[in-house]
Amino acid sequence: MTDVNPLVAELRSLEAEALAELERADDALALDGVRIRYLGRKEGRISLVLRKLGQMDPALRPAVGAEANRVKEALQSALEGRTAALEAGAGTGSTTDLTLPGRRQWVGGRHPVTRVMDEIFRIFGDLGFTRARGPEAETEWYNFEALNTPLDHPAADEQDTLYLQGGGLLRSHTSPVQVRTLQAFEPPIRILAPGWVYRRDTYDATHTPAFLQVEGLVVDEGISFVDFKATLAEFARRLWGPGTTVRFRPSFFPFTEPSAEVDVKRVITLPDGSTHETDWLEIMGAGMVDPNVLDAAGVDPERYTGFAFGMGPGRIAMLKYGVTDLRTFFENDIRFLRQFSEDSP
Ligand code: PHE
Repeated sequence: MTDVNPLVAELRSLEAEALAELERADDALALDGVRIRYLGRKEGRISLVLRKLGQMDPALRPAVGAEANRVKEALQSALEGRTAALEAGAGTGSTTDLTLPGRRQWVGGRHPVTRVMDEIFRIFGDLGFTRARGPEAETEWYNFEALNTPLDHPAADEQDTLYLQGGGLLRSHTSPVQVRTLQAFEPPIRILAPGWVYRRDTYDATHTPAFLQVEGLVVDEGISFVDFKATLAEFARRLWGPGTTVRFRPSFFPFTEPSAEVDVKRVITLPDGSTHETDWLEIMGAGMVDPNVLDAAGVDPERYTGFAFGMGPGRIAMLKYGVTDLRTFFENDIRFLRQFSEDSP
């Protein structure tokens, strides 16, 4: 018989198929699949061929058995070779580009309002200011009376201020820290006092019942209106850029005389290089410290003068970043917050 035994032919074509599959397999799982499909003891394709031996002429059986052993050994060693090649990282069909830079995980960033706070402190720090703190639960005296605000003033009304059981209140501004600092330290005083303040406001796009303020106070001999204007104008230029103009608009606060609201007009450079002037934006309330406040705190108003200011970093962050709804600062939506991150990917 010159014809190739049909089972030997079948084994050879299985061998070719298995080798082709091995070549395409590019991980351990795929290699194992090939091994089970062809060399598996029960369902492997080579075992299935050998099962047909029983119906065959006994004289032809040894040739088929020998061929089966040869194919098994060949596949076994091809499998081992391919496994070793993949483990050495030399997989030819690999889709992993080992030269790609690693993907960085975003680990967080400073909140936009914190960034503005940090900037305010950096600028005033350069101008010689230090940091002061006061309690959030205050007395009527520190929050109003010592600040030249009689208790029948509308600000002291229960409609506006959150009173605590037992007579205290949640401070409605950071100005009480002026009084506490004046009581605790001899002038010269140059402080910045950050902190939370509370008002009976509805929660909407421009109001929140709790918000941050930064208070500033300068008291010394000979502090004049010129020091006041020059300091705040310099601050505004350092925060918004040298092209910024500053306007002091007459206003009223019980604890400053005269009082002003400070507005800025910014020059914005657009991506195409052209410039654009904004409207006037109000950034703080301010004024010369009223002599009655110095007096209440035990500081001689004949000897000392000063100025004070208060601003809302949340409001400044809105103006700076073009945010239109204050509530987004409180909702902690990571998609919103990561836009302000220095290291946002
Ligand atoms: N306390 C004022 C407010 O909350 C701001 C202010 C502070 C005004 C200091 C003048 C001087 O609106």
